[in-house]
Amino acid sequence: MKPYKKIEATDIEHFNSIVGSEYLVTDVELMEPYSHDETEDLVFYPELVIRSNTSEEISKILKYCNEKNIPVTPRAGGTGLSGGALAVNGGVILSLERMNRILKIDERNLQVIVEPGVITEKLQEAVIEKGLFYPPDPASKGSCFIGGNIAESSGGPKAVKYGTTKDYVLNLEVVLPTGEIIRTGANVLKNSTGYNLTQLITGSEGTLGIVTKIVLRLIPYPAKNIIMLVPFYSSQKACEAVSAIFTGGVTPSGLEFMERDALVWGLKYIEDAGFELKEGIEAHLLIEVDGQDEQEQMKECEKIYGILKDYPCDEVLIAETALHKDRIMKFRRGIGEAVKSNSVYREEDTVVPRAELAVLLKGVKDIGKKYNFQTVCYGHAGDGNLHVNIIRGDLSDHDWNVTIRQGIREIFELTVSLGGTISGEHGIGLTQKDYLNIALDSKVIDLMKQIKTIFDPNGILNPGKIFI
Ligand code: LAC
Ligand code: ZN
Repeated sequence: MKPYKKIEATDIEHFNSIVGSEYLVTDVELMEPYSHDETEDLVFYPELVIRSNTSEEISKILKYCNEKNIPVTPRAGGTGLSGGALAVNGGVILSLERMNRILKIDERNLQVIVEPGVITEKLQEAVIEKGLFYPPDPASKGSCFIGGNIAESSGGPKAVKYGTTKDYVLNLEVVLPTGEIIRTGANVLKNSTGYNLTQLITGSEGTLGIVTKIVLRLIPYPAKNIIMLVPFYSSQKACEAVSAIFTGGVTPSGLEFMERDALVWGLKYIEDAGFELKEGIEAHLLIEVDGQDEQEQMKECEKIYGILKDYPCDEVLIAETALHKDRIMKFRRGIGEAVKSNSVYREEDTVVPRAELAVLLKGVKDIGKKYNFQTVCYGHAGDGNLHVNIIRGDLSDHDWNVTIRQGIREIFELTVSLGGTISGEHGIGLTQKDYLNIALDSKVIDLMKQIKTIFDPNGILNPGKIFI
């Protein structure tokens, strides 16, 4: 591929004529917020940031960049954990922050039409006012954008009952790298009309097109919930209890695992956690059941109690008030940041069929011992999705950059051997692309690369992501 063109004064003049100078960031100091996402301590400065406001502007920008061979990295909330929003080849960061309008809440059809810069929690709040629910709730929901959630097909605790972002996307407006604006589907709940480009774009990590309008389906808001926190004397047994809850006939709306280190580091960093961690406890399960009917949920809780009595648990904490529930969920959402405040870490997003979770956890710990690194594990146990945070601590540069990688390979090989894969909700982006061949065979990777070339023949859109 020919080298990318550096941005010059004439290019800036052109972008200025499209969006206006106040929406261009050319000053390096002001680019700092756009130089990183939440991935490790990685920093890449773009040459220019464009804060565009409409699909038409984006179309003109992409058409120009495609002609001139200028790389474009789309950016939503910048909370990603696989480096998807990093401008690794310089060029333009195309920020979607101004495209933050909720265009229509269609109460008759239980749908909402939004732009990509809407903060996920703001969208949830707006539809809750109408008695409706948009379930995907990534830990960063207070700052991530729906556009970024589409890029990674983000999940969160609720995914265990309600599915991830991809399960809610009905139709997308997308600007292709060549500048055409397309709609991928229709605003319908079923669609057998040709290939499913809506689902192809969802989770494509900003490499195929820039999503500019999103049609999402909604469900009635489940107004009642019960949250319980279950301390376990054995983290292995906590993992085993997860699948027992499902085989026992309960579908919780959240089933999160937090091992002791995640709890300890969280408690150091997050105020008012709403619970205490006793001596000898190796892990907690956070279990939520929700719905419209409190009696039903009480019954589900009783079933869960019945299942847990065969496991080595301490006293179960039930959050009684809305405030207490919020505190516990806030604690859970804050673990990633808490770990980061202690040490730089590498985030692995392993996912296995849920009954294999205990084997995965044990394997991760054994591999950590073999390569001499500490891991902090927590995540969406009900989905078999374990976040493995590999702690940098005082590892040397060589250990961090070389030795650790072999350990990560082994963790992923184990994950795949258990029937799992290497990312459940964070994407491949920049940081996981070296490991893609563990999860997918070469023919599959080849097909994916051909799809990329069809959409983006010159490779200008989010280059350096997903594939080596
Ligand atoms: C979480 C993020 C790391 O579950 O996905 O906290
Ligand atoms: Zn997560």
